[in-house]
Amino acid sequence: MRNGPLSLCLAAAALAVALPAAAQDETIGKQLFETHCAVCHGVSARGDGDMSGIMTIPAPDLTLLAHNNHGDFPMLKVVHIIDGRTGIRAHGNPMPLFAETFGAADVSGMDPYGGVIAARGRVMSVALYLETLQR
Ligand code: HEC
Repeated sequence: MRNGPLSLCLAAAALAVALPAAAQDETIGKQLFETHCAVCHGVSARGDGDMSGIMTIPAPDLTLLAHNNHGDFPMLKVVHIIDGRTGIRAHGNPMPLFAETFGAADVSGMDPYGGVIAARGRVMSVALYLETLQR
């Protein structure tokens, strides 16, 4: 096939799809964070959520995760906390509060891997969003 306007068009479309991927991740991560985490950690992630006044263990400031880890965002630690592998009582362990959303339990579709992949994508989106909030 010759390089006509159609293939140029397709190349432009592919680029347009590829470029905003990171931004989309952030938007998804932000939405998930605001839905599932902000009630305790606060919309700003600084530990000032609506529940903060009544919690016996304060929700930590999640914008200081990198600062508290010698300047490196502890990506793996955050992923394991969100998917429930690291037991945190406030997150509902040993039965993770977020298993339905961020665990592999969501395998309702025909493709048994679909739910797992979607769940991992959600976990990563929240972790990547938190990375953008570090100060
Ligand atoms: C019910 C309140 C609550 C909700 C909802 C909640 N957390 Fe937490 N989270 C806490 C508390 C309290 C701690 C501190 C627990 C401790 O120190 O034992 C914590 C700890 C953490 C930590 C470890 C912080 C550190 O400095 O080590 C991370 C990361 C975290 N939460 C992320 C999240 C994310 C992401 C969500 C949403 C998917 C979420 N949390 C939802 C209350 C909550």
